[in-house]
Amino acid sequence: MTTRPAVLVARGVFPEVLARLAQHFEVESNPDDTVWSAAELSARLQGKAGAFITGSERIDAALLDAHPQLRAVCNMAVGYNNIDLDACTARGVLASNTPDVLTETTADFGFALMMATARRITESEHFLRAGRWTKWSFDMFAGAEVHGATLGVLGMGRIGQAIARRGALGFGMPVLYHNRSRLDAAIEQQLGARWVDKATLLRECDHLVIVVPYSPASHHLIGATELASMKPTATLTNIARGGVVDDAALAAALRAGRIAAAGLDVFEGEPKLHPDLLTVPNVVLTPHIASASVATRRAMADLAADNLIAALGCGPHAGRPPTALNPQVLSAPTP
Ligand code: GLV
Repeated sequence: MTTRPAVLVARGVFPEVLARLAQHFEVESNPDDTVWSAAELSARLQGKAGAFITGSERIDAALLDAHPQLRAVCNMAVGYNNIDLDACTARGVLASNTPDVLTETTADFGFALMMATARRITESEHFLRAGRWTKWSFDMFAGAEVHGATLGVLGMGRIGQAIARRGALGFGMPVLYHNRSRLDAAIEQQLGARWVDKATLLRECDHLVIVVPYSPASHHLIGATELASMKPTATLTNIARGGVVDDAALAAALRAGRIAAAGLDVFEGEPKLHPDLLTVPNVVLTPHIASASVATRRAMADLAADNLIAALGCGPHAGRPPTALNPQVLSAPTP
């Protein structure tokens, strides 16, 4: 009898996905969905050939060195700043993420968060729930216009483009964007989007939506100086990663009215929040759920499982994980 590879599923996941993995592997799972410490994660990786992980598991060189048997780490997230990709590649470990399947769902959420922020939806709901609504007033919770306002997109990858499309085609918004590389002119035209430098973007947009991947280069891309350069009527929405925005500077800017409002799905040090963000009224807060429709979370889990199954040489795509980040490791001689 051949022994099947052992894999770790590091967080809770759909039972159907666990069942799929169990067709190929000996699976150790985490039915309580506990967030393990680095030491606990390492202990559970003993003897595992692969790991199904999420953004809460950090895969770095030290962990990989402690587990030379590990051959694949498959992230159930499109962002992969939790994985040291170079360290994986240097050790021949396949890493994967879950792009595309979440693009439209995440863009829907980014747009919804931007609209809730501009139109003060949660702030007014809190007021109502607190029993403070005693009369209609001409300026009660008057917010910023969305249709026709200038949308600024910082980071114009797949999700940024999907947000731009919603703004331009659905809401008649002129779209400005900033990205390291410019889109093809044909795509710019299709999206009605114009590339500008970051300073112009911040100065001219009415609603800034941040969709850049997190890396040392994007750490605190938006801080006190950048916030001070925005219109006092502008809103900022962050669906990228905590750390792209300096949350302390943002809370101070919101409190001082240097910008009108913010919508945040991601936070520095989440699930902890900067305490001031919980006390300023002009911020809409959600717990990192931009991709969380039932269908999309299932698609992400299935894609992460497909990658793991294929990376460990099983299933119909054996040896060809569909969304590998470093597919070159599969053809390279074992280091
Ligand atoms: C969520 O934040 C993701 O990267 O998929």
